[in-house]
Amino acid sequence: MKKLLALSLALVFIFQGVLSAAAFDDKSLTQEEWNALYAELRDENTLPMLCVGADETQLNICWHAAKDKAVPKVMLAKDEAMTDATVFEGETTPAENEEQLVCRVTMTGIEEKTTYYYKWYSENGWSEAYKYESKSFDSYKMLVVGDIQIGGQSTDNPEEQSRIGYVWQNVLDEALTKNPDISFLLSPGDNTSTGKAADEWQTLLMPEYTRSLPLALAIGNHDKKGFTYDYYTHMPNEFFGRYFEGLDRDFWFRYGDVLYLVFDATSGSAADHRAMAKEAVEANPDAKWRIGVMHQALYAPGVAMLEPETNILLNAVFQPIYEMYDLDIVFTGHTHMQGRSNFISDGLVVGKAESGRTYTDPNGIVYVNVNACCDQGTLGEELGYLWPYTAYSFIEGDVTTYSTVEFTDSTLTLKTFRGDNSELLDSLTIEKTKDFNDGTLRVGIRSFFYKIIELLGLAYMRIDAIVVEMRGGHF
Ligand SMILES: [Fe+2]
Repeated sequence: MKKLLALSLALVFIFQGVLSAAAFDDKSLTQEEWNALYAELRDENTLPMLCVGADETQLNICWHAAKDKAVPKVMLAKDEAMTDATVFEGETTPAENEEQLVCRVTMTGIEEKTTYYYKWYSENGWSEAYKYESKSFDSYKMLVVGDIQIGGQSTDNPEEQSRIGYVWQNVLDEALTKNPDISFLLSPGDNTSTGKAADEWQTLLMPEYTRSLPLALAIGNHDKKGFTYDYYTHMPNEFFGRYFEGLDRDFWFRYGDVLYLVFDATSGSAADHRAMAKEAVEANPDAKWRIGVMHQALYAPGVAMLEPETNILLNAVFQPIYEMYDLDIVFTGHTHMQGRSNFISDGLVVGKAESGRTYTDPNGIVYVNVNACCDQGTLGEELGYLWPYTAYSFIEGDVTTYSTVEFTDSTLTLKTFRGDNSELLDSLTIEKTKDFNDGTLRVGIRSFFYKIIELLGLAYMRIDAIVVEMRGGHF
């Protein structure tokens, strides 16, 4: 009897251990605790951003430090006492101000399902140790939250920054508590409100969850109003292209069997976007899935889709690339409205994608437009617009949402939840039994015709530059 009891206890202990090993530490905050944290940190800009690396074995990190104290070093170990720590050195680059430098470091050799602790060399010496738990590399889950947009629509408004910062904190808390197996976070952009203020990034990094959750952040039109994205992020495989200007850049990374192509949709440089996709796809011929990310919405529900720039220009620039390289899912944002398309190919619905169902080797791409974390109001939400291509839309404007994508050997499962109580709103599973076909002929033919778009894209860039100049920044 005793042996049985001991065995049972041991099993419970082991099971708990397995569970807790995969969980994020509880970093929830009351409103008062958040207010105190915000008041304490708002005037600084030295919190680090943990970013995804070029693949699952790498982690990027960056932070600001005073010029005379900037040392781009990180230590990584498998225990909190940092026994046998590996020290990684990176580089410093100029900051957006005269007083500081930006430290950027890449940690390598990350093993799956392993608990790590890391410290970065801050202005005050080594930081305290922060925990990072890698999950499975083959089968994993990632989180999608869009339009975090710290500061909302306003400039230099600490109250609004703090309010949105707390929404962001709470969405992370809800998502990571209910999904402790999440590997990283992907956002289709508008991370900041003005793109000009350091405190927007500082607020975005205040939730301590971001110390343990690598971020992959696309550029949105709000980020494009300024240049801070350049100084506060450290994305992998950044692609600066031939014609991109200023802040423009795409990036890509590989995580397990999945290739992520992250486009800067605020740039109309079709030639560069295509070149990035080509480079990424050719470097990852064995990837089983291809996921696209861009800020502006293609195939979102709501009247914002009537915006001509989105409907004509962005469709013309991006959709052919997605078709050319046979993407499975494309995540977008910008309209602040959660929705999902049916299977789309060249602008046509080629198959239904009903919520809750599994589709095997479907033809076409699913476009997922993710809600805004910052505030949920959007033009036309009260109309609940359902376009022919819309398979799902969530029109409760005052409720935030988050999505997860879980990959197994042969399936991809997309789920969207309410951000306040994780009620399941929408789900879709795609099963893939075949590899990507060679695609040489398809890419060749499409590339030929796409040259026209590339030329028009360059003309558009010139016109856009004049419009932006007249507007005094991106809209
Ligand atoms: Fe936007």
